[in-house]
Amino acid sequence: MRANVVVLPGDGIGPEVTACAVEVLHAVAAQGGHEFRFEEYLIGGAAIDAHGDPLPDDTLAACKRADAVLLGAVGGLKWSDPNARVRPEQGLLRLRAALGVYANLRPVRVHPELVGLSPLKNEKLHHVDLLFVRELTGGAYFGAKTRSADAAADEYRYTVAEIERAARRAFEFARARRRHLTHVDKANVLETARLWRNTVERVAKDYPDVKLEHQLVDSMAMLLLVRPSAYDVIVTENLFGDILTDEAAALAGSLGLLPSASLGDGKAGLYEPIHGSAPDIAGKGLANPLGAVLSAALLLRHSLGLETEAKAIEGAVDKVIAEGVLTRDVGGTASTAGVSEALLKVLAR
Ligand code: NAD
Ligand code: IPM
Ligand code: MN
Repeated sequence: MRANVVVLPGDGIGPEVTACAVEVLHAVAAQGGHEFRFEEYLIGGAAIDAHGDPLPDDTLAACKRADAVLLGAVGGLKWSDPNARVRPEQGLLRLRAALGVYANLRPVRVHPELVGLSPLKNEKLHHVDLLFVRELTGGAYFGAKTRSADAAADEYRYTVAEIERAARRAFEFARARRRHLTHVDKANVLETARLWRNTVERVAKDYPDVKLEHQLVDSMAMLLLVRPSAYDVIVTENLFGDILTDEAAALAGSLGLLPSASLGDGKAGLYEPIHGSAPDIAGKGLANPLGAVLSAALLLRHSLGLETEAKAIEGAVDKVIAEGVLTRDVGGTASTAGVSEALLKVLAR
């Protein structure tokens, strides 16, 4: 098949991890006789430096035309002055909104070889297989922001339609998995959360085969560590989803391992590892590229419908981990390029 993939390397380790993911995509394309066209554009701090805008018009136009977008990470010390007029992260948020990718899938699995890396007892980690569905284009991220000399406010708003479409996505995924959906909120305090609860309950009537439970976010933060294997699909609003998935990365062993897929109503999607630009290790060849590589696998699955190729990449990642070709964050000494090379070798077998 032919596909047009826009690559947005971004800042910090973004270019290092996307380079590896693109190499892997090239390899599976060559093997399967597919023709992928990769176009690279600026986003984030790199785009601010070049054009004064974290999401230049040509970047956005290319992303809108693309079959899928693969992104590294944005942000860094250079652009993090709290008084700055423009910020790299605004580019990413505008892109998510403009593409309408309201459902952010963040799967979390624990590789058996990496169980020892988690600060948790090993036996808790067996059978951990979670799918977070994080609402991505609403809530506190997108409400009005105001600031005066002695106060600031972030409007935190959700509509029924925004909640319903994210919830339906989560029920659909739960139905295709172990039929257990946990909705995480703060309904004891927030009005938006009570609207979420009402809406999720109503949507649940269409999915009687899925077991639904509600969990308050504060206790969920604890339960995720105490009994992580008790959950299947977890649906939550934007900010809680951001925080809980970084926490869940501690189950897997490193933030560098987790991928994501951001989907809207069509086939096109935005794919990015859940980690950031990691300024502390940027430019040193230390970045773990597996979160980006697994994001490329999700791209093949969800936007291009290439399930066999997606599985081939996921299988190659498992093999490389089992063979011990690991970056420093997961206890190894391999470089980003070393992991890349090992993945390509496995894929060529
Ligand atoms: P971070 O995710 O960049 O890094 C947190 C820690 O995890 C660091 O110690 C880092 O070295 C490590 N880490 C992250 N990814 C890794 C990888 N692939 N391999 C090995 N180690 C890895 O979070 P932060 O430091 O809080 O944020 C840095 C910048 O990144 C900020 O500007 C933030 O806004 C931005 N950010 C961007 C995205 C994104 O583009 N999607 C996501 C999160 C944070
Ligand atoms: C993520 C990041 C972003 C978010 C930031 C960089 C805007 O933390 O993708 O998880 O909060 O969504
Ligand atoms: Mn985050």
